[in-house]
Amino acid sequence: MADTTFALLGSGSYAPERVMTNNELAKLVDTSDEWIFTRTGIKERRIAAESENTSDMATAAAKSALEDAGITAEQIDLCIVATLTPDLPMPSTACIVQAKLGLPNHAACFDVHAACSGFIYGLDTAWAMLQSGRYRNALVIGAEKLSTVLDWTDRTTCVLFGDAAGAVVLGPAPAGSTGEIVGTKLYSEGGNTELLQIPGGGSAHPTPGPGTPARFIEMKGREVFKFAVREMEDAARDILEQHGIHADEVDCVVPHQANLRIIDSIAKFLELPVERFFVNLERYGNTSAASIPLAIDEARRSGRIKPGSLSLLVAFGAGLTYGSALVRW
Ligand code: COA
Repeated sequence: MADTTFALLGSGSYAPERVMTNNELAKLVDTSDEWIFTRTGIKERRIAAESENTSDMATAAAKSALEDAGITAEQIDLCIVATLTPDLPMPSTACIVQAKLGLPNHAACFDVHAACSGFIYGLDTAWAMLQSGRYRNALVIGAEKLSTVLDWTDRTTCVLFGDAAGAVVLGPAPAGSTGEIVGTKLYSEGGNTELLQIPGGGSAHPTPGPGTPARFIEMKGREVFKFAVREMEDAARDILEQHGIHADEVDCVVPHQANLRIIDSIAKFLELPVERFFVNLERYGNTSAASIPLAIDEARRSGRIKPGSLSLLVAFGAGLTYGSALVRW
């Protein structure tokens, strides 16, 4: 086992067919394509059909990742779904995905909830579980139907988010194989939960109604922006220092796709040209836990991530949570 490491053996993604442009949003709320694009970089986002659940998008992305990895559903013994929009409060979306994919009964299936950092949390968890020697092949999925937790009358939030899913297969590989995980790092700062939250619908305020908080995303945008920049910078700097890697050695940064201005700030901090960052938020908006695996899949399939190159993944989200990972392709 000494020369066995764990690597991303394949990736997949899924985005709903329905495209919603900024101009369409401008018919719903007092906004404009110009405002949204200049403040965020977003041009359009995808919206899932009413009948299309988070588990359906997760399953589609996972099927594509399994195919890409050349691994069958029967070979998967760990399935982690990162989501803040599960199909149901109970059971986990991972168990619903297990049934849809036909994963074996001995597979451990559960959700992680770390909002937009969820995929990095899932990756770190799966990697640790594989390293324990008790699991062999893992699916790590980020999937969100955020359109169901948006207040479509609130222009400060509804313009930012979209629906999608992304997935990776993590499994044993000889040292030096493409997709090898070099390291991961997680953080949380629970003192600032009120900056970004869905106040209603949980056990604190279960029943919607007059005077009770709504089951929609609420955000203090400016404060979140400042935290996002600082947290992503910390997460990027720490993991590079920990592994003795200079920022310039990173070929492709895959950041959480929330706002192009946040990405520009991280690029300046790392003294890297913004072209080193993979960005697809103009087409999807912020898809929370789906954002990084969707970007990884597009970057791999478009040839933007090349064999032998080094990628830095870096995310932040509600909690506040943040985290990073290094992958050698
Ligand atoms: N269209 C038009 N005007 C809007 C608007 C919209 N969609 N949303 C807000 N505004 C208005 C505000 O009401 C405000 O008007 P006022 O000056 O008359 O009060 C003005 O635009 C500026 O608002 P502000 O919130 O200061 O804008 P901003 O430059 O901070 O940009 C965000 C707003 C949300 C784009 C930005 O703060 C942001 O990206 N924050 C981080 C959000 C994030 O990434 N969240 C996800 C975390 S995972």
